[in-house]
Amino acid sequence: MIWYTVVVGLVGLVVLDYAWGLAKHIRVARRSGLPYVIALDQPNILFMVLFGTTLLPYMISWLPPWLADIMNDNLGSFRWRVKNRQTKRYGGVYLNVSPHGIRCSVGDAAVVSQIVNARHDFPKPVFQYRILDMYGPNIVTCEDKEWSHHRRHTATTFHEKNNDLVWRESIRQAREMADYWQETYPVNIPHGSGFTIQETREDLHKLTLNVISSAGFGVDMPFKPIPQDSLKSTEDIFKDSPTPPAGFDFTFRSVVSYMNVKIATMALANKILPTWVPRVLLPFLKDDFAAYRDLDQYLQKLISVNKSGVTGTETASNLIEGMLLSRRPDDAKDPGLTDREVISNMHIFTIAGHETTATTSRFALLLLALDQDVQDWVYNGIVEATKNEPSDVKDWDYERIFPKLVTPLCVMLETMRLYPPVITVPKWTGETPSTIHYRGKDYVLEPHVKVSLNAGSLHYSEEYWGRDAALFQPQRWDVCNHESFLAQNADMPGLAGPGLEYPTIHKPVRGAYLPFSDGFRACLGKKFAQVELVAALAVLLRDYRVELADNSEEGRGNACRILDKSTSVLTLAMRESVPLLFRKR
Ligand code: HEM
Repeated sequence: MIWYTVVVGLVGLVVLDYAWGLAKHIRVARRSGLPYVIALDQPNILFMVLFGTTLLPYMISWLPPWLADIMNDNLGSFRWRVKNRQTKRYGGVYLNVSPHGIRCSVGDAAVVSQIVNARHDFPKPVFQYRILDMYGPNIVTCEDKEWSHHRRHTATTFHEKNNDLVWRESIRQAREMADYWQETYPVNIPHGSGFTIQETREDLHKLTLNVISSAGFGVDMPFKPIPQDSLKSTEDIFKDSPTPPAGFDFTFRSVVSYMNVKIATMALANKILPTWVPRVLLPFLKDDFAAYRDLDQYLQKLISVNKSGVTGTETASNLIEGMLLSRRPDDAKDPGLTDREVISNMHIFTIAGHETTATTSRFALLLLALDQDVQDWVYNGIVEATKNEPSDVKDWDYERIFPKLVTPLCVMLETMRLYPPVITVPKWTGETPSTIHYRGKDYVLEPHVKVSLNAGSLHYSEEYWGRDAALFQPQRWDVCNHESFLAQNADMPGLAGPGLEYPTIHKPVRGAYLPFSDGFRACLGKKFAQVELVAALAVLLRDYRVELADNSEEGRGNACRILDKSTSVLTLAMRESVPLLFRKR
């Protein structure tokens, strides 16, 4: 009886706490004057990484659509699926109220622009990013003065010399990947040759990882691993061999990809777990401890290799050199990044810079396979851009050819519009109230209100993209397409946002396109990613036509279903594979 009373009492307390929290936040929401929606709760990123399985969306799919939208909107992993439906119901700015807080969803371009340009009123909620500072604070996990310090010494490294490196490496990797695919998965097709890839994910990740490895760290890796006996010098520890070098549990490539896939358990083992807990008691985290240690050692080694090559007079090519060159030992106020800070930023470049581009290219290939007319348009654009250029892609010149490859760039922009790798850009109001100006009125958001700049909603809005907003139409971006809905913006001032700095493309309303965020904290690697993806697409599509391996009605339906069920764990991705056929042109 006592136990019964204790359990009932505890449950009662939890329910009371829940009801009290909800009532309190509803009062706050009402005071703001903005429309609000009551939600169950807002799980954190770690919860979603660990528990955001397929079961949850399955359960949600049984709910009535309006309730499913509320649930999905509040479970970060599934938010993209709501597109702009909640914005249609509640307006461009509305609040999600739960017992544990308030989250303001923003799907209005003008309000997005205000927020991204008001860094002090709407800082980044860096407390949500602790999982990413395993190796110490870095540009993504800091705010305020500390962030300025990191940004100053990292932004300068993303310049055209580095983009040239990205270009050459992406071309090399795309060629090697196509050769490897042709060798490994050939198929007999009537009137020609080609290959079928059951799952592009792993190889596209490998391609982008190799590009960041080369253009970021100065470590060139072949697409295919080299035999172990060719490791000769200590620098060779970075070469991709089937087994790790002496003293390591992982090869460089395998530790970087392990870190990407197992980021949650690595953070648990190396960041959250107190250091006094004996590691031998946790055999199931053995690989996470080893991966952390190995990556640290590799990165330290890379710093020392790069230090010896940096003279202080040249311009850096790769990103590590760039960070080292930015050091000013005589400047007492800001001498530059310490070795530890360089390591932490390298770690974050790897995370920020490889999964995002890989997932975009995976979506792009499937979307092109589904739409052969669009693919013809892209192909013709590539042929036109390269018609007087060397036939061997390795001789393609970055400065001359990249600006002409408009059609693959349009594919990338359109893919990221419909499938933005980062579905929500998070901000918050911090410790003081902050005001937004929305449709002619001021609204005050109280302290500690989270703010989500909702790319899914903005990118599917008919107001910003026209009636065909939900369709894959890369041609809408092409400045030569005068029929495009975006053409009407041509005379509007101040449109070019991050990733849109090209005279060859139409610009959407500022704030309506957010794949690289915007304002102070916009993506540093946007051009890096664009050069990489445009080069890789041009190389692949020039020589191959990509199709669905199963192009029956059922196969197409299945591909569309898989696209539609994409979820976000760190980045938006398809959770099932769609086999693709590459037909040699
Ligand atoms: C398609 C590819 C990419 C997409 C969609 C993308 C998207 C984004 C977004 C949305 C942000 C803002 C995140 C936030 O504020 O929470 C961001 C920031 C950042 N990205 Fe990217 N990114 C891409 C590629 C890259 C690459 C290739 C690199 C580096 C090699 C990179 C490095 C960074 C860094 C360092 C930041 C932090 C900037 C700051 O806070 O000041 N990104 N990216």
